[in-house]
Amino acid sequence: MSQRFYITTPIFYVNDVPHIGHAYTTLACDVMARYKRARGFDVAFLTGTDEHGQKVEKAALANGETPLELADRVVKRFQSLWEKLNISNTDFIRTTQERHKKGVQHFFREVQAKGDIYLGEYEDWYCTPCETFWTEKQLMDNCCPDCGRPTEKIKESSYFFRMSKYQDQLVRHIEENPDFIQPRSRRNEILNFIKDGLRDLSISRTSFSWGIPVPGDEAHVIYVWFDALTNYLTALGYPQDESGDLAAFWPACTHIIGKDITRFHTVYWPTFLMAAGLPLPQKVFAHGWWTVEGKKMSKSLQNAIEPNMLIDKYGVDQVRYFLMREVPFGLDGDFSHSALVHRINSDLANDLGNLVSRSTAMLSKYFGGALPAANSQTDVDDNFIARFPAAIATFDQQMEDLAFNKALQTLWSLVSAANKYIDDSAPWALAKDESNRERLGSVMYNLIEAVRLIGLLVTPFMPDTGEKIRKTLSLPETDSIQGQDRWGVLIPGAHIEKATPLFPRIES
Ligand code: ME8
Ligand code: MG
Repeated sequence: MSQRFYITTPIFYVNDVPHIGHAYTTLACDVMARYKRARGFDVAFLTGTDEHGQKVEKAALANGETPLELADRVVKRFQSLWEKLNISNTDFIRTTQERHKKGVQHFFREVQAKGDIYLGEYEDWYCTPCETFWTEKQLMDNCCPDCGRPTEKIKESSYFFRMSKYQDQLVRHIEENPDFIQPRSRRNEILNFIKDGLRDLSISRTSFSWGIPVPGDEAHVIYVWFDALTNYLTALGYPQDESGDLAAFWPACTHIIGKDITRFHTVYWPTFLMAAGLPLPQKVFAHGWWTVEGKKMSKSLQNAIEPNMLIDKYGVDQVRYFLMREVPFGLDGDFSHSALVHRINSDLANDLGNLVSRSTAMLSKYFGGALPAANSQTDVDDNFIARFPAAIATFDQQMEDLAFNKALQTLWSLVSAANKYIDDSAPWALAKDESNRERLGSVMYNLIEAVRLIGLLVTPFMPDTGEKIRKTLSLPETDSIQGQDRWGVLIPGAHIEKATPLFPRIES
């Protein structure tokens, strides 16, 4: 039986339409899901939308529609963008779905049965944009310490979760599992936060009604974060396991999130799971924050970058490549059109695009598209070929570490080596003399084989490009890397097309 891998994006609020921040997280998950599939894993890849809570209710009211009408409208925006971005999710969950609501109520009852939920009164502050409770002491100038926006005082009857009870157990878990929270800087931040003391958490509201009712007390709706986090389980069928997905994929799970919601995923979620008696996910990776031309993206500035527009203008693989290559995963990054155009022209058009078109054009010119055999190897060839297994091992490790930009750098070191190999071996000079025919054939074989391997490994990042390269080399239709990532898979005689340019240059 193959190994299992479960990867998730946050479920996005429907009060906002998708921008490059959402696309970034979802794309990172997609690259990883495709990579793991190519490595033979059975992959579940979940994304979806967070549709309950005060924020969504307010946005709907302001628009003169019901929350569900708003959700039905905006969810389509997310779904069509994911299709356009070539996202290979295996499920899409909406928190208004019956399967989710039933699962959340069950989860609530499990925690309650443990004695970890009690009724009390909440009298403190609430930040609706963040859907977060704060004490007066935590506020900064009466505003939310996370987002800086105004908070409101609330006083209402509320169910509380005994989060304080799990403080020591959580610290122990984080300390004993150094990979649980990544990157390391986030882990230290969270450890400090927990060691400051965990308070019990309000997990229900009574002052509005757009949410899942507390089982047995319908005056309360379940706190939107308690509701939302549970999606990672309800999508697998929790509490039932008729499909076997729950047993198969939980807890073999990596949650990819933005750093803004680290505390919810590494403090609230694990303590809820501990209370419900369920194992914790393997890994939570919090990536950095995108700004746009140096500024925070915001509705009021209207500067959010709309991925649909980017894809139409530059192409889907170009956008995918840029987002994964430009910023080390985990650090903050800045989006600018000039940086994107620079990457497209230099890395894609000049480096990879040129390699593929030069190699296949020469093969077609010198050998009529029939792949020759490599019967005349020199030291130059041996050194070139030897780079591949070493780089592939590095690439694999970097992928496992979610170091996407490094993995691409590793791949591009092969692209550069291949371009240099062309320059060093000068096939055009060899072609002038018939006595060099065998030597020319070897060079061409090695080049095309290099193109094949680069195309194979680049596929999780740029699926359309990978497919084009595969078709050019008349390779069978599979993304599998298993058994294909060694030198010498192409068979002499194979028919090689002359590639059409992969990445047109962008004139700025
Ligand atoms: O927080 N840079 O949803 P949300 C990078 N519903 N990533 C960004 C970004 C930016 N400028 N802006 C948004 C919620 N993101 C909850 C989640 S999960 C159980 C519930 C991405 O719509 C990033 O992944 O506010 C961030 O964590 C997420 O969008 C927040 O999406
Ligand atoms: Mg948000």
